[in-house]
Amino acid sequence: PKDLLFSYKGILYPATFCNPETFQVLDSFEARSDDVILAGYPKNGTNWLDQILNDLEITAEKYTDELSVFPRLEFGDPEKFKRMKKLPFRRIIITHLPPQVLPKSIFKSKAKILLLVRNLKDTAVSYFHFHNNMPPLPSFSSWDEYFAAFMHGKLCWGSYFDYLVEWNKHMDDENIMAITYEELKENQTLGLKTIADFFGFSLSEDEIQTVVERSSFKAMREKSSQTHGKLGKILFRKGIVGDWKDHFSEAQSKEMDRKFEECLAGTKLGEKMKY
Ligand code: PPS
Repeated sequence: PKDLLFSYKGILYPATFCNPETFQVLDSFEARSDDVILAGYPKNGTNWLDQILNDLEITAEKYTDELSVFPRLEFGDPEKFKRMKKLPFRRIIITHLPPQVLPKSIFKSKAKILLLVRNLKDTAVSYFHFHNNMPPLPSFSSWDEYFAAFMHGKLCWGSYFDYLVEWNKHMDDENIMAITYEELKENQTLGLKTIADFFGFSLSEDEIQTVVERSSFKAMREKSSQTHGKLGKILFRKGIVGDWKDHFSEAQSKEMDRKFEECLAGTKLGEKMKY
């Protein structure tokens, strides 16, 4: 049903997680220069990075308590911004929003932004299963029907193509670094060191290794009913690269390649996403 969703600036959002009133005051949110910001389209691996960033920060700063896992910036009611303002420690802020919808202070504050991106096809597959397992999101009766919706951006948080095109405009900003899901999967230790360096978290080799182990797919899936309740097994589905091959037809694969080329060929982000 349509009332599951609402639209803001031409993009759909799920009413169960997001409140239109929060979007009305989004621009009043004040970013701080030491905020740790993680941006990623749904299913790019944000929960994975959430765990990594929390762990890196807790280890580097020698915090004794777990920081509360932050819900997405755009989730919940507008009151949350008041609570966030009072937080004394460095905030880890995670968002699926495209840059043109984000509060302007995020770009003015010089807060560092880690942009997480994932292969278009694997992202599409992961989001497909999520739609069909999550009652707050509309479900699709077939992969083909879903594929058309993905290609036209008729999904929550909008088109992934548009998302990438908009973020690509920021690729020369000095405070932004992009990382791919695939490079993290290929060499998690290197990926974590790169992320720690970017945010200025200082960890020993052993400490990095501990974070690597705790953030492996296996470890996170095993703990998922504690960390994410019933959502756990839905969120931590497969955690692999290339699952798209079991879903896409040859024609769909070509269609997506063509659109990727049209939108991102020769761009910094486009190059980063070629593997
Ligand atoms: S959400 O709902 O948008 O916040 O989902 P998000 O966390 O961004 O993405 C979920 C996908 O990330 C995979 N995942 C992982 N991959 C590798 N290692 C670890 N530790 C990990 N944790 C989560 C998760 O399995 C989802 O991908 P799929 O392909 O569906 O398995």
